[in-house]
Amino acid sequence: MKIIIANWKMNLGLADSLALAQKLVTFSKTLQQSQLVICPSFTAIALINNEIAQSSIKLGAQDCCEHDVGAYTGDVSAKMLAELGCKFVILGHSERRSIHQETSIQVSHKAAMALKYGITPIICVGESTLERNAGQAFAVVKSQLEQSLPKDVSGVIIAYEPIWAIGTGVVPALEQIEEMHLFIKESLLNLQNNGCILFEIAPKIVYGGSVNSNNCKDILKMQAVNGLLVGGASLVYDEFCKILV
Ligand code: PGA
Repeated sequence: MKIIIANWKMNLGLADSLALAQKLVTFSKTLQQSQLVICPSFTAIALINNEIAQSSIKLGAQDCCEHDVGAYTGDVSAKMLAELGCKFVILGHSERRSIHQETSIQVSHKAAMALKYGITPIICVGESTLERNAGQAFAVVKSQLEQSLPKDVSGVIIAYEPIWAIGTGVVPALEQIEEMHLFIKESLLNLQNNGCILFEIAPKIVYGGSVNSNNCKDILKMQAVNGLLVGGASLVYDEFCKILV
């Protein structure tokens, strides 16, 4: 079963979030091949949790704090997200890494915190255009993996999101996606063999970056791709349904 994660980012107010979630709940009854996860804004989480309660849809958030509790104005803890029904959390998205200067080490602490409260971290990695053009894509992703992962990565999801593909309409060639997914898989095994991480169930690896109804089937067909992280296209009901089927 492939996992399809909707990253709504800082879009949709309460009314629009609820309307989209309601339609997706109805649509989700037809889903057999995929697990749908919705990651709305923090303010819509409680409402959406209520709406999807009787459906197969799972709830996720877009970030959490690396600390457990305390004087962290504006932050939201993993425990608070768990209380609201979140089962997943996107961590280390390139927008957080670049706009909020989040480091990989911070991401690893956030992931450990999420796991502590039973939330599956979706840890994002990916290179910039400059890095790819300089032939450093694999080195960058390897280093992000080495630093962004918590010790126990059983059940964790890794999202490969090349920065140059996010919101640009530019998608890597299928061979490039497959190659990087296989590289991530191999890197995880190396990290496990070196004792840096441990896992009984290998992390799933999903692809994100300008996924739409035209390119999703070919990407999902690849065995190395366990699912998709969808931004813009997940905000448009008709378009997103075509990705889900
Ligand atoms: P996009 O965003 O699908 O709009 O490119 C993906 C993401 O940022 O997770």
